Amino acid sequence: MTATPLAGAADAVLEASVAGSFTRIGYAVRSRLLPEFGPGTRQPLAGRTVLITGATSGIGLAAATRLAAGGASVHFLARGRDRAERARAQIAAATRSAARPGTISYGLADLDDLAEVRAFAAEFAAGADRLDVLIHNAGAIHPDHRRSARGDELTVAGQLIAPFLLTHLLIGLLGRSAPSRVITVSSGGMYTQPLDLAGLDPDPASYRGVTMYARVKRAQVTLSAEWARRTAGRGIGFHAMHPGWVRTPGITAALPAFSRLAGPLLRTPDQGADTIVWLAGADPAGLGSGQFWHDRRPRPVYRTPGARPGDPGAPARLWDWVAERAGLDPATAADGPAGPLS
Ligand SMILES: NC(=O)c1ccc[n+]([C@@H]2O[C@H](COP(=O)([O-])OP(=O)(O)OC[C@H]3O[C@@H](n4cnc5c(N)ncnc54)[C@H](OP(=O)(O)O)[C@@H]3O)[C@@H](O)[C@H]2O)c1
Repeated sequence: MTATPLAGAADAVLEASVAGSFTRIGYAVRSRLLPEFGPGTRQPLAGRTVLITGATSGIGLAAATRLAAGGASVHFLARGRDRAERARAQIAAATRSAARPGTISYGLADLDDLAEVRAFAAEFAAGADRLDVLIHNAGAIHPDHRRSARGDELTVAGQLIAPFLLTHLLIGLLGRSAPSRVITVSSGGMYTQPLDLAGLDPDPASYRGVTMYARVKRAQVTLSAEWARRTAGRGIGFHAMHPGWVRTPGITAALPAFSRLAGPLLRTPDQGADTIVWLAGADPAGLGSGQFWHDRRPRPVYRTPGARPGDPGAPARLWDWVAERAGLDPATAADGPAGPLS
């Protein structure tokens, strides 16, 4: 897809400016100028099955609503029944006037608990005959150092190990539904951090929630590319993306000063969800696999030389580290479970 020279230049200037790109200014300019935002860049979602985590709030709620409005059957993972019921009712109400609204359902699991993730995947797989799109969206900044029951720092447990396990458990279903895709919602914050394996097991005394979050978001993008490499040829696309700076309950709670300062420049949840929804429906031939997206375009994974890994073996070591913590054999994790899910 080729942009006019003016549109390409505007996009490049925004991308270089960071603030211009991440705020609603970036979305407003790109959505008017770039051909990726034009008609005909998406395939119909009707008949597709989408599984998304974190649809009770913010970007995930907006994405689930748009996907259901487009006709997809949306199943979401939530950790509390009340919030799940409220989200389901909200999505149903918002999509009522859509031409062909898809079905909306949910299952319960806390991503900080791997046993709950396994039970959720088993329940979903028992009732689903296909999975076209898996979206790892749930996330949070944890201001204090906490550990999961397994002993992993909580950002790592819920946003790195749990999505890895969920992908592993459902990779067979994704393969049988090919062309299918796995979308990971990372963050532009990852640009500030290199891939740092030791930093994923941080010293509680020097723990900083924002740094930990950025490290995990960097690791998510690295793992998405590793999944792409290790499953090449199976018809499953892996796409990481960042939504920009978005006004959501999560960002307001975690970064109140930043939210106040950025104020009206923050994107709406709908704008933050736009590239997720687009990736879910775009022609897979144009997406490749293993790339990092923002505003419907592949973006560089590094902005500063200091964040580049000096060691080309680091992504593979990250894979092994995460697989082992998910209770999996790193050598076979990309193949999916050997037996039925239980
Ligand atoms: N907002 C931004 O500016 C921004 C920027 C970059 C990246 N992101 C990323 O975008 C994604 C969505 O964030 P958001 O801003 O929309 O935040 P949000 O409004 O706080 O929504 C987060 C969602 O994740 C769920 N969640 C969190 N921890 C979970 C766990 N352990 N188990 C199950 N569900 C869990 C929450 O469930 P509950 O309702 O139960 O809390 C909620 O549905 C995150 O991955 C975030 O890192 C956001």
